[in-house]
Amino acid sequence: MSQAHIRIWTELPAARINPNIYGHFAEHLGRCIYEGIWVGPKSRIPNDKGVRLDVLAALKQLRAPVVRWPGGCFADAYHWRDGIGPAKSRPETVNIWWRQNDPNSFGTDEFMRFCQAVGCAPYICMNVGSGTPQEALEWLEYCNFGGDTTLTRMRADNGSPEPYGVKYWGVGNENWGCGGRFDARDYAKEYTRFATYLKALDLEIELIACGFSPYGGNPKWDNWNHDFCHQMRHADLIDHLSIHRYFARGAATSFSDAEFRAVFGDLITLEKDIQATDRLLGYFYPDRFVGLIIDEWGMWHPSAVVDNGLEQESSLRDALLAGACLNLFNRYAHRVTMANIAQTINVLQSVANTDGSKMYLTPTYHVFDMMRSHMGALVLTQDVQCDHYESHPVALSQKHPVPELSVSSSQSGNKVFLSVVNQTLDKDIEAVVQITDGRIASVSGKVLHADDPRDTNSFEHPKRITPKRLKVEAGPEGVSHVFQAHSFTTLTCTLE
Ligand code: AHR
Repeated sequence: MSQAHIRIWTELPAARINPNIYGHFAEHLGRCIYEGIWVGPKSRIPNDKGVRLDVLAALKQLRAPVVRWPGGCFADAYHWRDGIGPAKSRPETVNIWWRQNDPNSFGTDEFMRFCQAVGCAPYICMNVGSGTPQEALEWLEYCNFGGDTTLTRMRADNGSPEPYGVKYWGVGNENWGCGGRFDARDYAKEYTRFATYLKALDLEIELIACGFSPYGGNPKWDNWNHDFCHQMRHADLIDHLSIHRYFARGAATSFSDAEFRAVFGDLITLEKDIQATDRLLGYFYPDRFVGLIIDEWGMWHPSAVVDNGLEQESSLRDALLAGACLNLFNRYAHRVTMANIAQTINVLQSVANTDGSKMYLTPTYHVFDMMRSHMGALVLTQDVQCDHYESHPVALSQKHPVPELSVSSSQSGNKVFLSVVNQTLDKDIEAVVQITDGRIASVSGKVLHADDPRDTNSFEHPKRITPKRLKVEAGPEGVSHVFQAHSFTTLTCTLE
């Protein structure tokens, strides 16, 4: 057993954790929207106006704050008018990226009703690659305009006389790739055209520009964010810059011990992405805060391919990685304004999987559930002293030390909340948690663990990996607790 020391300063809160860090991403891809979320009002599967009730309940329990839709790559080939009006008159169209047909029965109004039922904010990603500023502007008018126009009358006919008030609008997706294969300078010009008209119609909206993950392992575009920001003179048009990051090390459930460790090493490059983009946004926009959004992230195993709709098994390792990513986003709460795990249901690192009327929650779901208390809390300054192991992160030329514990801490009122991932395969770690300027009156905790980090939940064993309550006690020196190897733990300390 090794020893660790976690010190937390409540008098030094760093920033408020934007609840949107705990957001989701749902694309028209495989069985994410169709079957996963939308079964249609006539389905035998219990539903609320077409949206599955089991999925709704699961997302409500998470207090899911925001859902990004309709893509992904799908967004830059999507024409929103195909998805409004009477279901019977909607065209069936080809989904070019994911090689399936789209019945268009889930469109803007269904997405809005889904968000209202979940209680989350909608985040719409617009079509830049094959669309026009006019089409985007009309989508905004349809959703948000309060005046009396042909489009707003159409919205009323489709069930919503009141504007939807969509705040978050993405100006394209991965525009260096499936979103039109622009270079950064040309994308900046396109972005300016779109944003000029969108902001003229609605000043309340927040626009999200497409960025690139500089340490993601694709040197072709690693100067994209710099070149884009350099070109984007009109700071008033940009509210957030987004990057994407997927992880893969070995197979979903049969990875080696070295691959278990390597994935946590790769997190170092996501931290470098965040640090580099934080500095860059501060440099180019000194007079205006521009947020950083990671609007696609998670594990993408080799088994998830277009032919199976990017479906994959999801193990405890995935859940631990999710905990470590969310800890990272919390720690950079001064810049990170949103993050959206890919993808909500059935696809990639989903939080739930469905088969007909059955549904089970993945271990990743439980991490989101266990971390809910961080949403909106103040992230705290902390010092974590623990052992490290060596790993060689993707895209870096050298080995790097990986801390055995990933930690973030936050405060809300007299509660201090900690989330801790033990990133080792086989080392229990005894840690003393000290709150330097407060006495802990009581503490409660939960742990997510399995004997083998390769274990999963499944339709046969839906509850194999679920959180268990912990017995933890506070003493005069703080809390002493053994964080089990490959586990995820949350502690809630009530201060005197
Ligand atoms: O999430 C799957 C795909 O990954 C998205 O459509 C795209 O944006 C990314 O490359």
